[in-house]
Amino acid sequence: MKKDFGIKPAFFPQPVAMIATYNKDGSVNLMNMAWGGICDNDKIALNLDEDHLTSQNIKDRKAFTISVATKETIAESDYVGLVSGVKDPHKFEKTGFTAYKSTRVDAPIVNEYPLTLECEVYRIQSDKDLGFRVIGKIVNILVDESILDEKGKVDYNKFHAVMFDPFNFGYYQVGEKVAQAFNVGATLLKK
Ligand SMILES: Cc1cc2nc3c(=O)[nH]c(=O)nc-3n(C[C@H](O)[C@H](O)[C@H](O)COP(=O)(O)O)c2cc1C
Repeated sequence: MKKDFGIKPAFFPQPVAMIATYNKDGSVNLMNMAWGGICDNDKIALNLDEDHLTSQNIKDRKAFTISVATKETIAESDYVGLVSGVKDPHKFEKTGFTAYKSTRVDAPIVNEYPLTLECEVYRIQSDKDLGFRVIGKIVNILVDESILDEKGKVDYNKFHAVMFDPFNFGYYQVGEKVAQAFNVGATLLKK
């Protein structure tokens, strides 16, 4: 028996995506986003409340970086999702995190996140019905060597990436690998 859960913005897993932008005065802002993801080979979609400082910063600078939260950074990552930079312009400082300017886009790279996409704005949609949406063009992905295996590939034993559970509001660390994508299903091609 399946039980009706009604209409909720819930599809497990959702990302714990950390968007970093520059404020007008050049200080760093950071927010937590679960409603977004890859939408083309070189693009990522952000679904944001237009009132967020992040949204204003993206409009101003036409750029952002987006990182994956980790087990090690989860308290700070949650915190920046609880407090708006509109109310506390120093919220990034309170995390104790540090950042440096991307050489490719006008946005900060947070040192504490090991995987970061550097993005420039491709499109902004501000629609009465559909809300505020940013399509970012990925110009580069930065991966910290600390999460790579000896072959130079991302190693999830080292990269403790976290995902969001919208049903119980939990954060979960990525677990064991169950199969190889674009491969395990091939056995059924022969049927
Ligand atoms: C787990 C989690 C997921 C969130 N997902 C989103 C989201 O997808 N879109 C959004 O606009 N806000 C989302 N928020 C809320 C923002 O992170 C929050 O309002 C933040 O304070 C905005 O920061 P800013 O105003 O400094 O940009 C989320 C917060 C949390 C804790």
